[in-house]
Amino acid sequence: MTDTPGTAGRYPIRTATAETMESFAAPLNLAFAELPDPGDEERRVWEPERIIAAFDGDQPVATAGALTFRLSVPGGEAAAAGVTLVGVSPAHRRRGILRSMMRNQLDDVRARGESLAILWASEGAIYQRFGYGLATLNGSFDIARDRAIFARPVPPEGTVRLLGRDAAMGIFPAFYDRVRVETPGMVGRSETWWRWLTLHDTDLARGANGMKFLAVYEAGGNVEGTAIN
Ligand SMILES: CC(C)(COP(=O)(O)OP(=O)(O)OC[C@H]1O[C@@H](n2cnc3c(N)ncnc32)[C@H](O)[C@@H]1OP(=O)(O)O)[C@@H](O)C(=O)NCCC(=O)NCCS
Repeated sequence: MTDTPGTAGRYPIRTATAETMESFAAPLNLAFAELPDPGDEERRVWEPERIIAAFDGDQPVATAGALTFRLSVPGGEAAAAGVTLVGVSPAHRRRGILRSMMRNQLDDVRARGESLAILWASEGAIYQRFGYGLATLNGSFDIARDRAIFARPVPPEGTVRLLGRDAAMGIFPAFYDRVRVETPGMVGRSETWWRWLTLHDTDLARGANGMKFLAVYEAGGNVEGTAIN
């Protein structure tokens, strides 16, 4: 366990182990006002040695983590830290704890030789001060089906099949990797990630939505697309 000074030495930062990572990450439930889902622990993609917590006495009050990613870039791949699990208990905010965790984490990212740290921010105003910036834009559209037609005719071709998770495990990751190598900005996913985060379906994860459908589109004997709805 490495100890590094936290804010004014009051909230020392420690690095988790496989045994302590659940308790180190517990402040996240408070930070996001969420209860853990039953079965969460078996679905973890966490890397314990990349999870840190700030302590008030013997209590973890804030946490931050990173995942080891390969990010596709023009011409190849780059090592990237996928920053995640960031949260500070509501009773300990605005005391510089996030700032001290970010310093600790970026030092670690650098020591690992990763030239990139990437994240999705829960709020757009948080991370600029730590050196993060907007990397891409994302758009979504709601289109009323009875008001929409294709601009150009699309002759029906190929077939769409619905798959169960095990069958999808044999098709989705390979297809994704095919697209990933030619699409800058995509990150590789581990088998655990595919099985438990991308393709897994639970009542809790889907909230008010219906069951998760996994579909593969095949044309000319090849997989040409996958979709999750
Ligand atoms: C966002 C959060 C992590 C901030 O933690 P914190 O320990 O209070 O932050 P710090 O005291 O270290 O503040 C660091 C800097 O960020 C700023 N900051 C803190 N919260 C902010 C917010 N919600 N929006 C914008 N800026 C914020 C502070 O003003 C401070 O700025 P400065 O150092 O330039 O003066 C915490 O409020 C939290 O856990 N929120 C809910 C979970 C969440 O959103 N996590 C981020 C997931 S991507």
